[in-house]
Amino acid sequence: MTLQSQNAVAGEVTEDSKSGSMWSSRMAFVLAASGSAVGLGNIWKFPYITGENGGGAFVLMYLLCIAIVGIPIMIAEVMIGRRGGKSPLNSMRELVKLDRLSPRWKWLGGMGMLASFLILSFYSVIGGWALSYVGAAASGTFAGASTEAIGAMFGGLLADPKALLMWHSLFMILVIVIVSRGIRSGMEKAINILMPLLFVLLLVMVGYALSTDKFAEGFAFLFNPDLSKLTTEGMLTALGHAFFTLSLGMGVMMAYGSYLPKNVSLVKTAITVSVLDTAVALLAGLAIFPLVFANGLEPGAGPGLIFQTLPLAFSQMPGGVLFGTLFFALLVIAAVTSAISLLEPAVEWLTEHKGISRLTGTLIAGISVWLLGIVTVLSFNVWADVTPLAMFERFEGKTLFDLLDFATANVMMPLSGLFVALFVGWFMSRQAGEEQLALGNGLAYKSFMFVLRFVTPAAVLVVFVNNLM
Ligand code: TRP
Repeated sequence: MTLQSQNAVAGEVTEDSKSGSMWSSRMAFVLAASGSAVGLGNIWKFPYITGENGGGAFVLMYLLCIAIVGIPIMIAEVMIGRRGGKSPLNSMRELVKLDRLSPRWKWLGGMGMLASFLILSFYSVIGGWALSYVGAAASGTFAGASTEAIGAMFGGLLADPKALLMWHSLFMILVIVIVSRGIRSGMEKAINILMPLLFVLLLVMVGYALSTDKFAEGFAFLFNPDLSKLTTEGMLTALGHAFFTLSLGMGVMMAYGSYLPKNVSLVKTAITVSVLDTAVALLAGLAIFPLVFANGLEPGAGPGLIFQTLPLAFSQMPGGVLFGTLFFALLVIAAVTSAISLLEPAVEWLTEHKGISRLTGTLIAGISVWLLGIVTVLSFNVWADVTPLAMFERFEGKTLFDLLDFATANVMMPLSGLFVALFVGWFMSRQAGEEQLALGNGLAYKSFMFVLRFVTPAAVLVVFVNNLM
């Protein structure tokens, strides 16, 4: 996290302690954390992986993962950050010293940094798609367009590496500019308005979906689990997505946690952020699947799903040009606020360890991410047939983009989450944990610790090991 953003959040906190109210500081955290959590993961990734994994049973698994893995790990991460009071790596160092543990734990911070770097490289390419759709929506390209025309438009974008590269570059420039100047308090205030607006717009989209005659079918697809459709791979994807969508496993929540005042309830705050994040994902699903069925599209269409369905709604609904433009603009903003939190760890590390300025650090990290992003750009066209791990059956047909996504969301994030749970559950001082949680030492505390020590690690391990075999 940037110095400036530290000031932004810390600023709210002091203002707040002056006025004596606890609420606005909690709000500041909830906003910052949801700004990172709510992003392409909710609106782009959740619907398409739900479609690919057969619907309801996957959604059920995802909700379960949020509840027994995501929320406990979010609490643990925020706890480490608040107790350490520093950047993720240094917070871990601090706690390890305080509790006399092995200094190796600090590598938890290192793994997160690498993963966030890899994620941003493809996140930015998808953010670029959204960016290009703002223009398309505003210029009325969707108005009255047929399903085929809209599909062809998306196909055309993917097939054109130059266009993809341009949008990816534009998205990265946005992120670099914001991160290099520090995330100022204005940004936090903007999230304050834009997040509710995104929520309202999603409700409008769900309203439109209700007006199609396939709402019931879309609803059933999401919420009527057919357990026979659940594969071990689907379970791993659901687990990985719980981490991805809540911004866990990269130290982002640790960084934000270090600005959370002591008197704010960790548990309530983490649950608020998770519920908000989940609500956005489910609304996106409810807006999209009725359209998928109403227009005879394929739920398992893959990463292009929202880009092929939502424009159909905008092509038909009254005010579609306005709503479409607004929707994709908000999607870009949600993506940018998440992308910022993905670039930050690398920038922070560069400025901490190599004695370089913030601007230089941002440029080095940003340009490296941009370069790596070219791999994803090419995965959709020139390198669409490059599947380096095709010799393993499970990776057959997986492009470099698919592999990047798999390695980060399904391997690195669950692993680092597992270690966070083990660290707080088994290694960190129990007394400190008790104080942080502020649940007393009755049933609520004992149940939480039971979940964190046994249920969460077991769930991650079972899904993981099951999948390796
Ligand atoms: N949670 C974001 C989304 O759903 C992605 C994201 C932002 C993220 N920051 C992160 C994921 C940190 C993991 C870790 O779009």
